[in-house]
Amino acid sequence: MRSLIAGTGSYAPAKILTNADIEKLVDTSDQWIVERTGIRQRHVAAPEEATSDLALAAARRALESAKLDPADVEMIVVGTVTPDYQFPSVAAVVQGKLGNKKAFAFDLTAACAGSLYALSIADRFVSTGAVKNALVIGADALTRITDWTDRNTCILFGDGAGAMVLRPTDEPGRGVLTTRLHTDGSLVSILLMPGGGSRDPLSQKVLDERSHFVKMNGREVFKVAVRALVESCREVLAAEGLTPADVKHVIAHQANKRILDATLERLEIPASRCWMNLEKYGNTSAASVPMTLDEANRAGWFQPGDPILMMAIGGGMAWGASIVRW
Ligand code: UT7
Repeated sequence: MRSLIAGTGSYAPAKILTNADIEKLVDTSDQWIVERTGIRQRHVAAPEEATSDLALAAARRALESAKLDPADVEMIVVGTVTPDYQFPSVAAVVQGKLGNKKAFAFDLTAACAGSLYALSIADRFVSTGAVKNALVIGADALTRITDWTDRNTCILFGDGAGAMVLRPTDEPGRGVLTTRLHTDGSLVSILLMPGGGSRDPLSQKVLDERSHFVKMNGREVFKVAVRALVESCREVLAAEGLTPADVKHVIAHQANKRILDATLERLEIPASRCWMNLEKYGNTSAASVPMTLDEANRAGWFQPGDPILMMAIGGGMAWGASIVRW
């Protein structure tokens, strides 16, 4: 038995912040941002919108497309680094708002790789028959932890959520095949939010140092990202006996167009096979993969059985790749 992605959904908040808007905040230009990242605009959650609100909207759309009653969901896992509260989980808030009593619900933290990690965990439960279905969500409001005075980071991030419904299938040639996850904890310091946690609880010092915002060594992240993504994509392809030429579609974490171009070039996969939307949304962290999957799905990009290569990387560093047959 395998898990099939039986429905997808996504949500982006209404407010749009363009590169021209960011030019008014920090010393940057639309041209620089487009050339270095490919990003033209991003969506920003309204003050009253929390991560669970984004997650809930995406979840409802995914459940609708899978024709699954919210009350029947048996497992909810949310990848996020911007939960509504330190605890309880976004997943618990979503479960409550869906009016569901059946599902066990929890969040996991793997930054931008969060939804790929969540997919992999949920796949283990669904494909072994432990649950009949699972709701996998990636949701982040990264603009809430963005330092709007730091031009190295504030140009990159946007808010959103994406969701997938997993169901078991015995149909040959369909479902989630191989997923491989990796972490290199020696790289914690190159991408993190250092303040406001148990190491350095919220204090005047944290506020003064602005350490409750994302800190990133962009150049290092860039280098690690290309190498790690290429390696893990090769790993999942080899596990399935596939070559890059067999890959029909690529659904990748939308971090930076140059990272994706370099990765695809090394893998010798034409860029046209990779669905891109970072020009509209920026880097939406854990939301990125399922938002992209939903957009491509709703555009009719996938046929049953199509081999799809999924990949993501984020703070930790945490990364992975997956081969799914639609
Ligand atoms: O999900 C993972 C999350 N993180 C990422 O994906 C980030 C990965 N890294 C990147 O995407 C890129 O490293 C960035 C887009 C963040 C930066 O691009 P880069 O080509 O690596 O630029 P850089 O950091 O090497 O900076 C080049 C120059 C510097 O000036 P000097 O030192 O050469 O005079 C920066 O100060 O560009 C300057 N710069 C900017 N200029 C205009 C940095 N940020 C900006 C900016 N506008 N926003």
